Amino acid sequence: MDFKNFINGKWCDSVSGKRFEKRNPANVDDVIGTFPESTPEDVEKAVEAARKAYKMWRQVPAPKRAEVMKKVGDLLVQRKKELAKIATREMGKILLETEADVQEGIDTAYYAFGEGRRLFSFTTPSELTDKVCITFRRPVGVCGIITPWNFPMAIPCWKILPAIVCGNAVVFKPSREAPHTATKLVEILLEAGVPEGVINLVHGPGGVIGEAIASHPGIDLISFTGSVEVGKRISELSSKTLKKVSLELGGKNAQIVMDDADLELALDGVIWGAFGTTGQRCTATSRLILHEKIHDRFVEMLVERAKKIKIGDGLKPETEMGPLVSEKQLKKVEYYVELGKKEGAKLVCGGKRYTENGCDKGYFYEPTIFIDVKPDMRIAQEEIFGPVLSVIKVKSFEEAIEVMNSTNYGLSSSIYTRDVVKAMKAIELIEAGITYVNAPTIGAECHLPFGGIKNTGNGHREGGWTVYEIFTEIQTVYIDYSGRLQRAQIETWKE
Ligand code: UN1
Repeated sequence: MDFKNFINGKWCDSVSGKRFEKRNPANVDDVIGTFPESTPEDVEKAVEAARKAYKMWRQVPAPKRAEVMKKVGDLLVQRKKELAKIATREMGKILLETEADVQEGIDTAYYAFGEGRRLFSFTTPSELTDKVCITFRRPVGVCGIITPWNFPMAIPCWKILPAIVCGNAVVFKPSREAPHTATKLVEILLEAGVPEGVINLVHGPGGVIGEAIASHPGIDLISFTGSVEVGKRISELSSKTLKKVSLELGGKNAQIVMDDADLELALDGVIWGAFGTTGQRCTATSRLILHEKIHDRFVEMLVERAKKIKIGDGLKPETEMGPLVSEKQLKKVEYYVELGKKEGAKLVCGGKRYTENGCDKGYFYEPTIFIDVKPDMRIAQEEIFGPVLSVIKVKSFEEAIEVMNSTNYGLSSSIYTRDVVKAMKAIELIEAGITYVNAPTIGAECHLPFGGIKNTGNGHREGGWTVYEIFTEIQTVYIDYSGRLQRAQIETWKE
């Protein structure tokens, strides 16, 4: 099937006429379809359409704009199973997880529906008499939304739905690895009543389309989730036109297990956190910090469980872990596993491709565990984005926290302990945007701020009420009803 861009109210091909192919990562013989290989000229058209639509859309009352989101949520509910299958087929994670991905979109839509009536801002007394001070939330303008493939429904929804509720128009560039789910989302937005021009979809390579969006003077805001490298490039290009930029970048998240923890619970947590989504989450657990007293026992339990994980096509109900998304990701994982061995870490599980049980035509990789990892090894510092877990042994709570904080990332974190004092102290000392106690590093809910510190981002939090701060500008208004010139900082109040 030949899929299209959606620009200025029309499904259309790229001006280049070129197309790229998307295949199923679980079986590369399965071609999902071809998508337009767009060019900066297509971006130009999308921006023009969005600018025009923005003028109209910003004047629609916010509660009315948000009503569309009720329908978006309802349509996602109706099509949850069908959408999950589409997502699994194009990016590989298991159906249970793509259904959850759609559910995150549903939650975000219903939240957005309510937020249209809650775009609160402040009023405050004036320092002068007969004068009021009010602030309004205004839309930012045209938003360039650039999304990854690992949450093909949830992440576009996190960004696009609030953007639209706030009165912005959107140019949406989804990942080349998840273009089908993105197309379905745009169809749903249109069916729900998002006006033409308010949403524009441009498929294509990040290097070309992302760059064109980031450098376009007609785009006011960029919201991007992806790698640090691309985030920096977007930031650099966007600075030339002073765009507002919200970046959600990588993670090197760790789970601490203290000697007093419920080990079975901690085991369930790390298995889900490290190998869920085949480790391809920015919140994935990629480091496990174990107290020396429970280290050997826990590693034994962990390896036993990891070996039992059923690898296969995510569309099959019995599968527990799907393939990596692409050959590029597979090569990256293979590179880091070799590197880990060279660095002197000890491989105790996995460490190779999985080709049994009909898995010879996909990018499958075994759950992989390294022990004897030192905190400064590259496998403990760099984001791998695959099912690779680095285990680090520590002697104390203090050392655990030090190791936890010893990377350039700061997205998610977790501690398992039964000691409330340790839990509270960890919450205080951990340097991360998200901290879990007795739960894994994955599992963020849509109505809470999501994001991190250090190289994980640039200070914004998408999700929750804070994403509405990103997609609005504050307008401060002073109304003087005294009938005379009152000069601030000069006139003083007299009885
Ligand atoms: C991501 O990996 O980019 O908390 C997002 C979680 C999911 C979102 C992950 N709800 O793991």
